[in-house]
Amino acid sequence: MSNSPRKIIIDTDPGQDDAVAILLAFASPEDVDVLGITAVAGNVPLPLTSRNARMVCELAGRTDAKVFAGCDAPLVRRLITAEHVHGKSGLDGPDLPEPTMPLQDQHGVDFIIDTLREQPAGSVTLCPLGPLTNIATAFDRAPDIIDRVQEVILMGGAYFEVGNVTPTAEFNIYVDPEAAEIVFKSGVKITVIPLDVTHKALVTKARNSAFRALGTHVGEAVSDMTDFFERFDREKYGSEGAPLHDPCVIGYLIAPRLFTGRHINVEIETQSKLTLGMTVADWWRVTSREPNALFINDLDADRFFTLLTERLSRL
Ligand code: BDR
Ligand code: CA
Repeated sequence: MSNSPRKIIIDTDPGQDDAVAILLAFASPEDVDVLGITAVAGNVPLPLTSRNARMVCELAGRTDAKVFAGCDAPLVRRLITAEHVHGKSGLDGPDLPEPTMPLQDQHGVDFIIDTLREQPAGSVTLCPLGPLTNIATAFDRAPDIIDRVQEVILMGGAYFEVGNVTPTAEFNIYVDPEAAEIVFKSGVKITVIPLDVTHKALVTKARNSAFRALGTHVGEAVSDMTDFFERFDREKYGSEGAPLHDPCVIGYLIAPRLFTGRHINVEIETQSKLTLGMTVADWWRVTSREPNALFINDLDADRFFTLLTERLSRL
């Protein structure tokens, strides 16, 4: 509790759930210090993700935050986007004004590299909430930074839930599997927040109403955002609410005790037409492949949503 806040870089493709993750981070200064936000192409193209990231900063009243534009396309593939989930803007739902705060001039990848070189080794955590293009590019261009990363805590992949964009792949990994492979093979400390856990973080009607009941601009916006992708997910999963993927990354940083998982080996499928982007997770430890990630599979959803709602009430 008396520990100083963890320094983080949020690498993101907002995305309503990315937006809620950013808001949760800003609302938790005792736990996390957001050094910068790097946008990446993913849910929607880069001009929109870098715009949306700034809109979210402004919603949180954090016009002082630094937002950088990173890579506009996966390492070797054509970009695949998800407007069918997130709407044309990527942030459909609430009525938010165009941002007025500037985008930083520096490229997001250079910001990641420079920050890791400038800050004490082992003091910066990377929180990727989208395709891993920016992180892999940084690791590829500046391998010296890999050992300086405290941890990568990423939303991506699945084992028991298998896939959401193809039958066997989760969106963030599927969009840039070569980037994911670089990160998973890099030797960096990795915690994975896969669909296995985010599909248990469902925005039920009651949880959505709790956001709105905060009676704040942020509470209303979060309720509108989660309401928007609810429509798509309810049709798809027929579940009692849509999964709130990316905030689980920040939730894990703030309250790791709410989550459980296993240290296992995770490899990325980059060749197969049928299973491209699959996270081949050795959950049952049936290979002799070395564990390279903490793979989370469960959370205390009630306590997570209570924490999230309480924190959002501060904004
Ligand atoms: C992931 O894909 C995106 O649509 C969400 O923002 C989340 O990061 C879930 O598969
Ligand atoms: Ca995302």
